[in-house]
Amino acid sequence: MCGIIGYCGNGNAGEAVLQGLKALEYRGYDSSGIALADQDGVMSITRSVGKISALIEKTKNNLIPSSYGIGHTRWATHGAVNEVNTHPHTDQFGKVAVVHNGIIENFEELKENFPLEIFTSETDTEVIAHMIALEIANGENLLQAVQNTLQKTTGSFSILVISELNPHKMVAARKGNASGLVIGFAEDAISVVSDITALTNIVEKIIFLDANEYVEISSKETNFYNATGEEIDKKTLLLPFEHNVQNLGQYKHYMLKEINEQPETILDTIRGRYQSDTGSINLQELQLSSEQIRNINRVVFVGMGTSANATLVGRHYMERFAKIPSEVDNASEFRYRQPILDRNTLVISVTQSGETVDTLAAMDEAKRAGCMQITICNNPGTQTTRIADSTLYMRCGQEISVASTKTMTASMILMHALALYFGKIRGTLSPETEQHQINAALHLPVAVGQALELSNQVEEIANYYHSFDNFLFLGRGLGFPIAIEGALKLKEISYINAIGYAAGEMKHGPIALIDSQMPTVAIVPRDTVFEKMISNIQQIRARQGKVIALVSHGEKSLNNLADEIIELPEVDPLLAPIVTVIPLQLFAYHIAQKRGLDIDQPRNLAKTVTVE
Ligand code: F6R
Repeated sequence: MCGIIGYCGNGNAGEAVLQGLKALEYRGYDSSGIALADQDGVMSITRSVGKISALIEKTKNNLIPSSYGIGHTRWATHGAVNEVNTHPHTDQFGKVAVVHNGIIENFEELKENFPLEIFTSETDTEVIAHMIALEIANGENLLQAVQNTLQKTTGSFSILVISELNPHKMVAARKGNASGLVIGFAEDAISVVSDITALTNIVEKIIFLDANEYVEISSKETNFYNATGEEIDKKTLLLPFEHNVQNLGQYKHYMLKEINEQPETILDTIRGRYQSDTGSINLQELQLSSEQIRNINRVVFVGMGTSANATLVGRHYMERFAKIPSEVDNASEFRYRQPILDRNTLVISVTQSGETVDTLAAMDEAKRAGCMQITICNNPGTQTTRIADSTLYMRCGQEISVASTKTMTASMILMHALALYFGKIRGTLSPETEQHQINAALHLPVAVGQALELSNQVEEIANYYHSFDNFLFLGRGLGFPIAIEGALKLKEISYINAIGYAAGEMKHGPIALIDSQMPTVAIVPRDTVFEKMISNIQQIRARQGKVIALVSHGEKSLNNLADEIIELPEVDPLLAPIVTVIPLQLFAYHIAQKRGLDIDQPRNLAKTVTVE
């Protein structure tokens, strides 16, 4: 959560920091602030509650000429959303300015070393500014002051610091694994950002700061240090991907744009990987040998939110095609239940951002146990890609809307490809099934395009249902993960209470909720559990519940049973989740729009969740 940026370069630091904050806004948008230093190192600090546009407005025509500065966009963890809690935080004399992402766990204890009255905010960050100022007062330079301070902290976080007491320097540091930092080099400037996507187009080279490392930056140079203070050499990388132009085009919101991009992003995901002519799957990024793949005794999928919902589909594929016992774990629970892992366990993490702290923690746990690891990720060069043995990139381009859409379909496809690939090597997949699944996957861009054509019908349904305050989503088999995802999408952007359930579970509690004010969205493809879904719908109708049914192409038998029927395009039943999720993404979108909500930046959420 929270985005931080530092810039050292020519005399336009203010503009550069604000531009970087705009690009980082998806990480948090409760409030934002900026600290700029003039040619003598004297700092000017502006903070503002609300989105970055409020900070831009506040600093209009009064950004001081400055060659270096730091900025922050906040997703509140400690303390209310107000100006005093907004970063940058300073010591009591305003000589040290700090921006921070992550959590300092022992901040209360650290505060006891200072008189309480010097604290102006409720944050865990402010104490760091006081500690650094004290270190400098005791004769340390800025770098040593930051190092000494961080040695006394616990938690996992990153900071950027500037100080009038040691001008023309900026220090960036990471403690622990959460909260990544990347340093970008342009011809005449050096930037530090919490996310590679916030680097400007002119940046060509980058260096990732690893856990427990520090960097001291001046306008011309960077010096890197490890946890014990020794200077270290770091590997410089070329920027690994082209920046997506952040452009809404014909769309009103990024979410709608990203939903509509899916035929194209799916094509990018499958391109070169599904080979119809050879009847095989090509995953050349995979670093596992055939022997390692044959030795896998268990697959554990980890992820959070939408990515976790996708893994429930991935588990089906892995068991069906590769016949490997598979389980799904919510990444935030994984390490706390002391999972039984060994060298033949394969852990597959699914994450759009590659920076989700719970997913990283689960991967660390797996690493300690010596497991093989694959990450399915969208953002190149991010932390999960550096921990895993292999990365399967989603190739979706940047996802800007906080609600994940195109990356969910990409991750389900990659788990399908992986399961087919393993199945072939392990001898559990017939060539006919492989060829059939490859052809079916190659049809997905078309089927998803057809699903998008349902948008007008879905909008009409949303017109009627947007004022309901509670929804139930039901599915069975491969429909179950999509029911949970449909409910998640609806609650996160429309703030409606929506719950997703395995339909068989309905009679064991949720049915008590059903009345005319609690509509049910039922996923009812013509599959082996079709008749059972019909019984569930009858039970709902018997209690005056309204039913919106998503049915297979050409299915007419529910016409007199459901209130609304959404007929899905033709698709192989095993790939149905990738198509079924589309009208549910649209449903959430249209409902939130009718409710007049901030669709791309829903309240309380952030795109990258770097706190536990
Ligand atoms: C929901 C959503 C979140 C993310 C979750 C994991 O639309 O976007 O639930 O799926 O925060 O994020 P990643 O995939 O970046 O690990």
